[in-house]
Amino acid sequence: MRRWNHNDLYHRVLLRHVPPHCDRALDVGCGTGTFARALAEKARVVEGIDRAPEMIAAARACTPQPSNVHYRVADVLAEDLGTRRYDFISCLAVVHHLPFATIMPRLREALRPGGVLAVLGLYRERTATDYAVSLAAVPLNWLGIATFAVVRLASIPFHHRDRRTGKGVRPPVAPAAMTLAEIRHHAGTLLPGSVIRRHLFWRYSLLYRRPGDSPAAD
Ligand SMILES: C[S@@+](CC[C@H](N)C(=O)[O-])C[C@H]1O[C@@H](n2cnc3c(N)ncnc32)[C@H](O)[C@@H]1O
Repeated sequence: MRRWNHNDLYHRVLLRHVPPHCDRALDVGCGTGTFARALAEKARVVEGIDRAPEMIAAARACTPQPSNVHYRVADVLAEDLGTRRYDFISCLAVVHHLPFATIMPRLREALRPGGVLAVLGLYRERTATDYAVSLAAVPLNWLGIATFAVVRLASIPFHHRDRRTGKGVRPPVAPAAMTLAEIRHHAGTLLPGSVIRRHLFWRYSLLYRRPGDSPAAD
């Protein structure tokens, strides 16, 4: 049975940035694979990796076969991601588990020219604006939880077709360490041209497109 999950609210936002004719996509820290399965409708092949074996087992159990999603247990910090391999890389609620300055260049290099990195992240509140936005999100959070519970009780199908998302399996969580200002600062250096937006529920999105190859000189 699905749980109220803030990350799921932003799937459509991220999926809008999958490049057309996406051949190979990677979902880092895929958890039970909910996003990887949605991504599979827009990419020829999707790889879902997670360092937690129980997450990969749940993701496999939730994925009807045949499928173009391939899961494997892997630590993204140790994994050889290759260079210029992926048209799209997503990381939902994962980056705060990792050293930002280490992971971002690795993901950038793994993108093909023109490929897109889409991050949904969590930031640490520090400024008055951060706290004001968080306060505004509290009633919406309760409303979301209540609506979700009613929908579940009434057995109204949720917008995802696959509702089996690893019953009883909770992905590992971690507190956010970086503020939004720190994330903007580091992304400005590591992912030039990236666009960062603040969202409700203590989240931000980061979108980066790797520049295409320059046309060969005549
Ligand atoms: C909060 S969960 C998010 C899961 C999923 N992306 C979602 O949106 O529901 C974070 C996931 O990242 C995974 N993770 C953390 N560090 C990782 C690493 N170094 N390599 C691969 N996966 C990692 C965890 O095992 C966990 O499943």
